[in-house]
Amino acid sequence: QELAGILCRMPKAELHIHIEGSLEPELIFALARKNGIELAYPSIEALRAAYAFTDLQSFLDIYYAGAGVLQTEDDFFDMAWSYLNRAKADNVIHAEIFFDPQTHTARGVPFATVINGLDRAVRRGREELGLSASLILCFLRHLSEADAFATLEEALPFRDKFIGVGLDSGERGNPPEKFAALFARCRELGLRLVAHAGEEGPASYISDALDLLQAERIDHGVRCLEDPQLVARLAAQRIALTVCPLSNVKLAVFPELGHHNLARLLAAGVVATINSDDPAYFGGYLNRNFTATFDALPELGAREAYLLARNSFEASFVAEETRKEWI
Ligand code: ADE
Ligand code: ZN
Repeated sequence: QELAGILCRMPKAELHIHIEGSLEPELIFALARKNGIELAYPSIEALRAAYAFTDLQSFLDIYYAGAGVLQTEDDFFDMAWSYLNRAKADNVIHAEIFFDPQTHTARGVPFATVINGLDRAVRRGREELGLSASLILCFLRHLSEADAFATLEEALPFRDKFIGVGLDSGERGNPPEKFAALFARCRELGLRLVAHAGEEGPASYISDALDLLQAERIDHGVRCLEDPQLVARLAAQRIALTVCPLSNVKLAVFPELGHHNLARLLAAGVVATINSDDPAYFGGYLNRNFTATFDALPELGAREAYLLARNSFEASFVAEETRKEWI
């Protein structure tokens, strides 16, 4: 109704979206046919029916398989261009987009193919959609730090095409400390730093991402509420959490949206934002995340809608002057 209209119409930034997670089943099948790749599912409907996840790993298995249809620079462009148009329709005015190069280079797709396709979409988005967007390179934490360092080397010739680095994939058993030297190097290079932490992993992974990786923003971070001192620190230092409500329910971090802790995070003064994570897999893009969450949590009203939009700009990596204009 009225609140839904405000949520959908208000300008906002999206800070946690994996571009490979925006690959819709229709595009997966179209690219598979074009590139001569055999899929494990006979139809779009059968693929979609497989999107019944029990935890993060059960999702990642299907997500990495889906990304296997991407071969050419145009494939990466088409995927990102499609996301940017959907984001525009949701009144996203700024997006910081994750990509997982190791998923592609491990299959023999050159790093240049990946980033040139994505960068072309980002630039066209700025020009044609008036949507500001930038790329964040994510390292896969289930792989070794040496593999991540090798990826960083491959990426450096394209340093001007991404603003920072992140850490994603299976969290349990792959703690922040595994990548301390890598993140120290990225920091020296002037890259912005973010990390997934406290999605499936414990609250200590959030503290460690801050202390050992110097992460400037935490992706998910919802398990911080298990550590009241950590919550106080996040609030005092205004360290943002990029929360993804529909993702959290699909991956069983919360049993249902009505049990989500977003309202409690905001009430505790944490700079939380709403994001879509992997919208093609989790049932909706950004506005759907907003409306479903506000429907499920009666504590959220117009004041929180405004706060969440404001937080999304405050937590973004755009220049201070631009951020002030948006806020
Ligand atoms: N890669 C894509 N989505 C992810 C998530 N929610 N957590 C960790 N890695 C991911
Ligand atoms: Zn994520």
